[in-house]
Amino acid sequence: MSRKDKLKKEICEKSLQAFKAGLFAGTSGNMSCYLRDKDIMLITPTSMRYEIMQPKDIVEMKLDGTVLTEGKPSSEWRLHAEIYKGSEDVNAVFHTHSPHATAFAVNRMDIPATLIEAYFFLGGSVPCAEYATPGTPEVGIYAAKVLPGKGGCLLANHGVVAVGSDLSQAYIRAEYIEDTAKIYIEAKRIGEPVVLEKL
Ligand code: 13P
Repeated sequence: MSRKDKLKKEICEKSLQAFKAGLFAGTSGNMSCYLRDKDIMLITPTSMRYEIMQPKDIVEMKLDGTVLTEGKPSSEWRLHAEIYKGSEDVNAVFHTHSPHATAFAVNRMDIPATLIEAYFFLGGSVPCAEYATPGTPEVGIYAAKVLPGKGGCLLANHGVVAVGSDLSQAYIRAEYIEDTAKIYIEAKRIGEPVVLEKL
């Protein structure tokens, strides 16, 4: 199996896993990886249910928007493209609407670092990027501004972006962004969470 075919299969498997884990709901969210040496982004198609998505449905495209295969890419392909343009180290992007982290995004709040995992996996707190209309390049341009040194960020009134050198790293970061948000919200119900300024 070619490297591209393996990655398309991995995108389908991780997307379904994310759907079952509640990181994706309905057809929301999208996932991509970037073959930087070939300028090819592999990205989930728009508005397709994760239970039926197949490797052949994953769209191949260039960062300038040129679509190389059948199908319509995620409506957020510009978000993914701007992040790849903004950081040479990022080769996978995972956009979710995971509920606890997205609650912070709706409040336009950063997620404070209260768990040690925030430092191990996320670079500390998770910053919230400035609001931009979904589908526009600005969503990615504003995200790229706050991402340096971070494993992910929030998109105001929209959701979460987790990044990584590969799909596995982006995935685990998306899990920890949701987990740190959930535990903060729970801790706030019974007391005042202590923010870890450093490890
Ligand atoms: P797509 O189905 O076009 O990827 O859009 C889902 C989404 O989450 C938009 O923010």
